[in-house]
Amino acid sequence: MATVRVLPKGIEYEAADGATIMAAAQAHDYYWPTTCGGEGRCTTCLCTVVSGIENLSPRSRAEEQALIEERGLSALEEPIRLACQAHVHGDVVVEKTGVRPPFSFGQDSTETKE
Ligand code: FES
Repeated sequence: MATVRVLPKGIEYEAADGATIMAAAQAHDYYWPTTCGGEGRCTTCLCTVVSGIENLSPRSRAEEQALIEERGLSALEEPIRLACQAHVHGDVVVEKTGVRPPFSFGQDSTETKE
């Protein structure tokens, strides 16, 4: 098991070895932005890897192509991954807005009620 931490909210969850960042989040009922359902086509799931990039599977040719189409050739030099295509093999910290914990629709779970 590896730990995935998602900034800026500081969401943290366990990922089975080889699970994708997004699938592991969904396994814990977190919402991860997607429009293609994890098929590597929409790039909506794109995240920035803050640390632990060496603990992710290498980009496939299809992922590279999707990134190039979305952001240009220079995208391959950036620490960005499609969360639906990056398989976790160790602890990783990524940045992705829009990831939400379960049952938080319309609410920020970090808010405290008075
Ligand atoms: S969910 Fe569409 S590319 Fe990852």
